Amino acid sequence: MTKTTATAHTNIALIKYWGKKDAQLNLPTTSSLSLTLDKFYTTTTVENSDIDQLIINGQMADPNRVHHFLDGLRTELGDFSPLLISSQNHVPTAAGLASSASAFAALTAATTRHIGLDLPLTTLSRLARRGSGSATRSLFGGFALWQAGTNDQTSYANALPTSNIPISLLVVEISGLQKKISSSDGMLRAMTSPKYEQWVHDANWQITAMQTALQAGDLTQVGQLAENNALAMHALNLSAKDRRFTYFTPQTIQVLDLVKKLRQNGLIAYATLDAGPNVKIITHADQAAYIQAQLHQELPKLRVTIAHPGPGVSYEQ
Ligand code: ADP
Ligand code: DP6
Ligand code: CO
Repeated sequence: MTKTTATAHTNIALIKYWGKKDAQLNLPTTSSLSLTLDKFYTTTTVENSDIDQLIINGQMADPNRVHHFLDGLRTELGDFSPLLISSQNHVPTAAGLASSASAFAALTAATTRHIGLDLPLTTLSRLARRGSGSATRSLFGGFALWQAGTNDQTSYANALPTSNIPISLLVVEISGLQKKISSSDGMLRAMTSPKYEQWVHDANWQITAMQTALQAGDLTQVGQLAENNALAMHALNLSAKDRRFTYFTPQTIQVLDLVKKLRQNGLIAYATLDAGPNVKIITHADQAAYIQAQLHQELPKLRVTIAHPGPGVSYEQ
């Protein structure tokens, strides 16, 4: 029986996707821009089976979401056999470290190749979006821009021109546990915030400003824009009219305070956080090891990984 395997890396959004115009198709309210990371990824193998089944890290997992996703592919690409999906997450699952991004990018690539298709990356991106919005950007290496678009045909990502910016991202793992509020639910709540309209307005200019900063190699500006965008996203969660919440824990705040202190000491250090308590620190590649040591001194229990720009999707022969 033939098997097909693909690997995709997670990505961290510098300007975030946090809200849907259409929850069926994951059409976003704003465009978003991300960096794919080298250290965190998903490898997924598919083979024909009698029902759609999902195994993550050797354990049977709820197949509902992938089944629904595969049915969408069957409608668009032509019917194909049920699949046994065996996936390894080299990233904590559902902890706010973007497992859904690498997972659905890898699944889209493995499935389409398995059924004999060789689709352009932008088409894979459009299809992966339906599994999880952030997966749209994980087909590409380096920086990617997901254009919000207006419908299923026009909402997909592209790689941004390579930037030689010497960026490193320290991933501070505060908790690898499964979060209580999924990204999909979190953004539904956030959209009820009175600040939501302002968020959409700001994202429009932030996307352009971020591209300008990347092209100029201006890491300070990249960091500032990313941190402002991330904190505004988390402010939406706190100010939601319907079921307000936060992903922050006391340790999240401790790390954010430390980032501020590092900056006051003249270092390049800016924080961004996705849908979870874990903090990613944007810094210069030359300063990453020093910042890692500082974190270790102040918060010795936390695991800190230094990540760099990672590659796009790949296949195993
Ligand atoms: P995260 O912050 O990890 O992206 P989400 O709430 O966005 O968290 O998505 C987590 C969900 O993504 C899981 O509950 C599961 O449905 C799906 N997922 C994660 N990893 C895989 C995988 N390897 N294969 C298939 N689906 C996965
Ligand atoms: C905070 O892509 O996980 O990481 O589309 O519902 O699967 P669904 O959500 P998901 O949301 C990611 C949100 C974020 C920001 C981002 O990656 O842009
Ligand atoms: Co996710």
